[in-house]
Amino acid sequence: MRLAKYLAQAGIASRRQAEEIIRMGRVKVNGNIVTELITLVDSKTDSIEYDGKIVGVEQHVYILLNKPPGYISAVNDPWGRATVLELVGEIKERIYPVGRLDYDTEGLLLLTNDGKFTNLMIHPRYNIDKKYEAYVAGRIKDNELMILRDGVDLEDGMTAPAGIHLISQNDRASIIRLLIHEGRKRQVKRMCAAVGHPVISLKRVAFAFLTLEGVEIGKYRYLQQDEVNRLQEIALHEL
Ligand code: URA
Repeated sequence: MRLAKYLAQAGIASRRQAEEIIRMGRVKVNGNIVTELITLVDSKTDSIEYDGKIVGVEQHVYILLNKPPGYISAVNDPWGRATVLELVGEIKERIYPVGRLDYDTEGLLLLTNDGKFTNLMIHPRYNIDKKYEAYVAGRIKDNELMILRDGVDLEDGMTAPAGIHLISQNDRASIIRLLIHEGRKRQVKRMCAAVGHPVISLKRVAFAFLTLEGVEIGKYRYLQQDEVNRLQEIALHEL
C-alpha cells in the first residue's frame, strides 16, 4: 500500500497530513528517508519509521467469546462493572465488541479491531441470523409462539418474522429458541415480555454459522480467516 495510507491506518495522521510528513523527510523506510509520495510499502516486510520511531499497523483480529452473564459489552463502564475485555486480557490489539449482549445475557459475542467488519455485522441492512435460547416465565401457549413467529408489536415497530421453537416447558417456565436477524436493543426480552413471558435468562447460541462449540463459558477463540470471509460474504449477499 502507499506509504501515506499506511501512516494514516497506523493512526499517525490523516492521509493528507501523512503526505506532508513524508515530503518533510520525517519518514524512513528500511532505514532510508523517503520523500516520494508514490512509495509503496508492505507492512509484513518493510520497517517504517516516523521521527525515528517504528510505526506499526495493527493486524486485524477477530475473536469469538462465550460471554458469561455479569459482564458489560463495552470497552469501559462508567459504573465500574466488569467488561468483556477483561475476559480477553492477553490480546494486545485494541479490540471491542461487535454489537452487544446485555449485562445478564450470556453466549456468543464477537470482538474485533476491524471497523469495516463491525459495520457489516451490525448494520440492520445486512440481516445476519442470530439464534437465542430463552428461559421464560410461565407455560407459553401455541398462539403466543405464533405471535412471536409472525411479528410482535413493540414500541419501535413490528418485529420481522422469526424462527421460533419450543424446546421444553412446565407450569412455571418454558425454554424457547428464537432465530432473528434484526438487532434491536433488548429485542428478545421485549418480544417475550410482549407475549406475557418475561425472560429469566438468555443465551445467544449462534451468530450466522458460528456456534459456541468447543468454547467454554468465559473462554474465547480466534476466528479463522475463512470464517471471517464467509461472514462478510453472508452480510453482503443480503444486500
Ligand atoms: N436480545 C436481548 O433482549 N438481549 C440481548 O442481550 C440480546 C438480544
